[in-house]
Amino acid sequence: MKDRRDFLRFFDSEDYEKEVPESDEQKKIPPPSFERDYPKDAPLIDLVSPKEFKIGKTPFLNIVNSRKSRRRYTDEPLTLEELSFLLWSTQGVKKISKSGRGVFRTVPSSGAKSPFETYLVINRVKGLDPGLYRYISFNHKMMFIKTIDDAEKTIGELSYNQKFIGKAPVIFYWTAVPYRTEWRYTILSHKFIAIDLGLICQNLYMACEAIKLGTVAIGYYEQDKIDKLFELDTNDEFVVLLAPVGRYPEEKKVTDFFKNPKAKVKPDALSKLVGIYVKDDGNKIEFILKENLLVAKLGSYEEIVDPYNETEFEGEYLKAFRFILNKEGKPEKLVLLTRHDDTVELIYQKPESS
Ligand SMILES: Cc1cc2nc3c(=O)[nH]c(=O)nc-3n(C[C@H](O)[C@H](O)[C@H](O)COP(=O)(O)O)c2cc1C
Repeated sequence: MKDRRDFLRFFDSEDYEKEVPESDEQKKIPPPSFERDYPKDAPLIDLVSPKEFKIGKTPFLNIVNSRKSRRRYTDEPLTLEELSFLLWSTQGVKKISKSGRGVFRTVPSSGAKSPFETYLVINRVKGLDPGLYRYISFNHKMMFIKTIDDAEKTIGELSYNQKFIGKAPVIFYWTAVPYRTEWRYTILSHKFIAIDLGLICQNLYMACEAIKLGTVAIGYYEQDKIDKLFELDTNDEFVVLLAPVGRYPEEKKVTDFFKNPKAKVKPDALSKLVGIYVKDDGNKIEFILKENLLVAKLGSYEEIVDPYNETEFEGEYLKAFRFILNKEGKPEKLVLLTRHDDTVELIYQKPESS
């Protein structure tokens, strides 16, 4: 663990000289290309030029305040303008340095090395065939690579079965090409590359939010299988992060989920809700009392739930809880509102001690 943690540190000046080797740049080796080669006769697809964007005028503070990870997408396709806007916002090229030693983009990058390529799995974009594509950032164009069999299922499975990813109209995949940064920064590069990647992904979040699309960074994926699907030479390039993008459905308000008005809660009202609630697939949530607060336990995860009234509560991981009582005022069922806005029913079981 400690060895892996250490890459996040930098060096004190005494150690720097000792630890950091001479770079290929210092050895006068010519800089690498800042865009991966592609067949020069490959037909490229035109994107909408940033000068022509009519979208994305949302005030900055609204974008900052509304940003969150969004994991539900409607079936509606994206437009080419929307996709162009997202590609421009994440990796658009503004200037290539005259010396050929870097490239200036819409996102910052250590030493202007921008050691990434952007691949897209397109399921639904108006006017484009579904398949795997690459952003040709120097020309602000796209290149079709190949079709993907049963893309929705394949993409979900390759992200440790996070099925919502395969359902998105577009999935961004960023690969790292580490040598672009290593050429100058040698062993310092890997910290810089990780930071650079976060900056790209944050721009995707903000750009999506500006045009009412939703996204979420995805760090859990099957490395070797995705690299293989994309036919990458993993000595030089491999996937480092992905992000599905789509139009998000209108969110359910917690207050629409609740059936009763907000009300003060007597401390002893909570104790009767204590118990285990079981879903038909065997999953359970336990409710316990801790210092007069009602606590939901999901495996080893615990959170205090916030009373809205005596039977309805707001949560953090799960959005809301509605306890249904029988005629004697004892709990019978629990209805949950998940963070994906699904409702799930669980049946009450007596607490183990009673
Ligand atoms: C590097 C990184 C990897 C992540 N991986 C996943 C993931 O695999 N699955 C997922 O559902 N969310 C993933 N997330 C999203 C986080 O769960 C989310 O950002 C966090 O819960 C905070 O919520 P918010 O983005 O809505 O503020 C990831 C976020 C980051 C920055």
